[in-house]
Formats: sequence, C-alpha cells, structure tokens
Amino acid sequence: MRRSTRRALFQLALFFGALFLILFLNRSQASNRSFAWNKIRYRTASATLPEAQGICPGLTDISKPALVVARVAADGDTKWLHELSTLYHLCIYTADAPADATSLHLQVPANRGHEAMAYLTFLIDNYENIPTAGAVFVHGSRFAWHNDALDYDNAPLLAALNVSAALAPFGYHNLRCDWSLSTCPPSYKPQGSLEMSTQALLAPYDSRAVSDAALPRALADLFGGEVKLGRTNAVRSQCCAQFIVSRDRVWQHSREEYVALRQWLLDSNGAPRDDRVAGRILSYVWHILFIKAEPDAPGSSSGGIDLEKLNAHACPRADQCYCRLYGRCDLSCTSPGNCPGQYILPPKLKVESPQ
Ligand SMILES: *[C@@H]1O[C@H](CO)[C@@H](O)[C@H](O)[C@H]1NC(C)=O
Ligand SMILES: *[C@@H]1O[C@H](CO)[C@@H](O)[C@H](O)[C@H]1NC(C)=O
Repeated sequence: MRRSTRRALFQLALFFGALFLILFLNRSQASNRSFAWNKIRYRTASATLPEAQGICPGLTDISKPALVVARVAADGDTKWLHELSTLYHLCIYTADAPADATSLHLQVPANRGHEAMAYLTFLIDNYENIPTAGAVFVHGSRFAWHNDALDYDNAPLLAALNVSAALAPFGYHNLRCDWSLSTCPPSYKPQGSLEMSTQALLAPYDSRAVSDAALPRALADLFGGEVKLGRTNAVRSQCCAQFIVSRDRVWQHSREEYVALRQWLLDSNGAPRDDRVAGRILSYVWHILFIKAEPDAPGSSSGGIDLEKLNAHACPRADQCYCRLYGRCDLSCTSPGNCPGQYILPPKLKVESPQ
C-alpha cells in the first residue's frame, strides 16, 4: 500500500472514530421524554419544621388576587406596592427582617434561595386560603432589568396585567414576554449537555452555567423518578421567577410538597450551597410545578410530564404574551422572542431607579 494511501486511511479512521465518539457522548440517554415531575418526592431528614411566620392577614373571602412580594430591606420603600392594593391583596415578605414581632412585613425561616423562600412560605402558611383569583409572585424591587418594559418599572406592568387572560391557557404564566436571557431560544444549550458541564468546570464563577449543569441532579433529587434529564433534553423556560398562578394549579400539589421543596433549600444536604445556584435552579421549577399537565397518553398511567409539551407552554411567543398579559396587541415582531420597541436588555443589566 502506498504511504499516502495508508495515511489517508488512517486519517479517515481517526475522523470516523472521533465522529462516533461525539455521537456516542451526545446520544439521547432517554429517548423517553416523559419525566416524573408531577410530584415533589424529596424527603427531609430534619426532625423539626419552621413555625409559620408568613400567614398573610385578610386572605379569606377576597375577590382580588394576592400579590406575593419577596423583598429584602435594601429594596426600599413599599409605597409603590401599596398603590397597587386596589387591584391586589398584598402579602409582603422581607427575607432579612429581624426575627421578631416588630417587623412590619411577613417573615421567612431563612434568607436562602432568593425569592423562592418567600414564595414557598406564602404557599405553605396560606395553603388553605389561596384566593380564587389566584396569586401573582414578584420581587420587591420596583425597577429591575428583567421587568418587561422600556423603563423597567414593575408598577405599571402589574397595574396593566390582565389576570384572567394570563391564567386562561395553562393556569400559570411568567410575567416576562421577551425571550432574552431565557432558555427559550432553540439555540440555548441543553442544561445537561457536555458543553454546559465543560463551561461549569472551566468557569466556576459562571452561576448560570453552574446551575444549569446542576439541574439534572437537582430535578432527580426533588422529583425522584428513574428517568433523568439527558444530555440532549433542554428545559425551556422564561427567565426571572416572576409569575402568576391560579388556585387550582397551586392545589394540584399538596402542602407537604411545598414544605419538602422549602426543606430542600433549608437542609444542609439539600440544595447546592451557593445561593445563586440554588435560587436559579428553583427558577426552573415553578413552571414545571404549575403549568397544567396534559392528560397522559392513552395506556400510560405514569403521570409523567411530556417535556416537549411543557417546553412549548413555557415559552409562548412574545407577541401573543404582550397582548394577553398587558394588552399590547398587534405588534410587529422580528422573531418569536422579540418585538422591537417593547423591551431592550439594559447594558450590563444595570437599571437606575429614577428618583
Ligand atoms: C382581559 O382579557 C379578556 C380576555 O382576553 C378580555 O375579554 C378583557 O377585556 C381583558 N380585560 C382588560 C381590562 O383588558
Ligand atoms: C417513560 O417513562 C415512564 C416513567 O417516567 C414510564 O412509566 C413509561 O412507561 C416510559 N415510556 C416508554 C415508552 O418507555
């Protein structure tokens, strides 16, 4: 055999070897796209549970939806929230409030998991009294880069929010319509992919990559189940953990499940210790918990959640979302996730409050 032929054959073998290795590593580990995410199955080892510090007064027999606010003292004045009290029943939680009865606001067992601790404390301590009109969950800062308006002001957005329209399709809706920094675009890498694990290893300060890489394990810890999120399974989700949910969707989980989820945050062997990572993982969990699960395929009784369907519901088109939630209709949009003139990602995600 000629030397050049031998070299060509060798290179060809090398090429196919590498190709098969890549295909092998990226193979769909679970061709089964149904996941047992219908129930929180985490079990705490803790013998004592936190006492209720988050009972929101006056929740019984109201026709307004609740506005559940997760704030820290640095979020400042709550006047803007009180101005919304004709539309919403306010339940304001301050995560770093002194742990005594002098606090003006409701309290949480620990300042952990960002907004998740307040949201879960509301659900646990007021489980029986969720308003018929549902509940809206937001952060305590009025101005934030992710509020979906050109001025980043959440007050007019919450005033304009069409609660019944938002709940109509799936009983849950994220308050963001623009897809930037979400995992909705098809180009966003699956959380469990090799690319993401590599990025998390090479850049441990990148909490986005680290929390994504930790997601398959976290979902398995929380929901149990045989089938783990595979390397090719992307969880598509809107960003930033501000959303609305109906009472029925809250009640599709037992109070004990919310207790277990909160314990996962509190337990030392539960959620990842880095709070940015734990908080971001929880921001992936809300829509999994609340979007109305499709009835199972005929013949199956697993109660599994079809990831493809969940993804489609979690990422509505921006133009439909703006119209449904905020009455901004007939927009001309350049892509499923962006409608020019509605929202711009601020440079370095910095937003100054104009006062
Ligand atoms: C809210 O949406 C519903 C259904 O889309 C619509 O009929 C109603 O007029 C809207 N309400 C407001 C205040 O825009
Ligand atoms: C998919 O997984 C579920 C459990 O999550 C199982 O009950 C079901 O039978 C599986 N379906 C197929 C086609 O393997």
